[in-house]
Formats: sequence, structure tokens, C-alpha cells
Amino acid sequence: MFITFEGPEGSGKTSQIRLLTAFLREQGYAVLATREPGGTRIGDQIRACLHDVANTEMTAVAEMLLYSASRAQLVREIVQPALAVGTVVLCDRFADSTIAYQGYGRNLPLADLHQITQFATGGLKPHLTVLLDIDVERGLARRTANAEEMNRLDLETVSFHQRVRAGYHQLAAADPARWMIVDADRQAELVQADLREIIGARIKQKV
Ligand code: TMP
Repeated sequence: MFITFEGPEGSGKTSQIRLLTAFLREQGYAVLATREPGGTRIGDQIRACLHDVANTEMTAVAEMLLYSASRAQLVREIVQPALAVGTVVLCDRFADSTIAYQGYGRNLPLADLHQITQFATGGLKPHLTVLLDIDVERGLARRTANAEEMNRLDLETVSFHQRVRAGYHQLAAADPARWMIVDADRQAELVQADLREIIGARIKQKV
């Protein structure tokens, strides 16, 4: 089963995935947790280039293609082989990030993004996507407070991040069977309890 986690900056995805991975393994599931961009040796090199705050001249199209290149590598090297042997794959961001950030955020044409994404993923789609939702300014403040790795996109305007969040809501509304929206602006333990309940039940149905 392929489960992806999306959200604006500072939604706590990474630590929630870490806790959930440990929980599901205790339940006896084989779990692989990975992330985008990155997750492979090649993808990590692409990540460094994408997130380097010195790369101010990067165009929106080059940015989109680099995220897609990292995704193409991750799908074929890691995700597909794991799914083929029945592993539960948890991925910190996937193709919906491209639609939200490069589509709604950077205003690249959505039809082109869908076409390139289809090529990059070979048509692989998540069974379930969790939107860890948080108000943009609260999320950005959390990130700064936790002194997390700042990347080129963190430096974008608040209105950019608001378009990204609105984009996520549009994606979720268009495909409610795939998306679950979880309020991430709560204590981490409460968010984790919701994730365990929702995802535990979905995995049981599927496996
Ligand atoms: P994160 O690892 O902190 O979530 O950072 C990933 C950053 O990359 C985040 O700012 C969102 C951005 N991103 C895109 O703009 N497009 C994409 O396709 C992906 C996967 C991430």
C-alpha cells in the first residue's frame, strides 16, 4: 500500500511519519518510509540543488523538472520494488506537491504538470494521501522556531504559500476517496493518534 503525506511548510509531516513508521512496525507490518525530493542517492543530489538558497536564478520549469527527475528515480528504484513485495510505503511528499507548489504556487500550467508527472511516475498513484493541514503563517513560524533546514521555497512569500495550501484543498476536494485532511495545528500526540486510527484501519482493509 502506498501512502503519501502532504502539507504546507511546518505541518510536522516528517516527525509524524517517523512515529507512524515505528507504530506500524510494532503492529508487524513491513514499512518503508521515504521522502521527496530525495530518497535515493541520485534524488538526494537533486534535492541539494533544488533547495540550495544560492540557486536564486532557477526557473520554475527547471525546478519542476528536477522534482520530477527525483520522483522518477524514487518510483523505480525504491517505491515500485517495495510495493511489489507487499511493503507499506510511506512517502513524505509526492506528485501532489508538484501540483500544489509548481502549479498553484508558481502558476505553471496544470495540464503540463499532470502530463510530465504521469511520465515521471509511470502512472503510479497513492492509495491514500494525508493532508496535514495548518495555517500558513503558523506553519512557517513553527519551522523557524524549530530551526529546521531552510530551503529555497521557505523563502517564498506568504501569499505563495497560501496559494499552495489552497491548491491542496482543491486537490483534496476533487478526489475525496484518496485524500484525508488532518488538522496539524494541534499537539503532536493528538495528530499521531488520528493518523494511527485512520491509517491502521485502511491498511487492515487493504492487506
Ligand atoms: P520538506 O522536505 O521540508 O517537505 O521540503 C520540501 C520542499 O520542496 C517544500 O518546500 C516543498 C517543495 N516541493 C516542491 O515545491 N515540489 C515538489 O514536487 C516537492 C516534492 C517538494
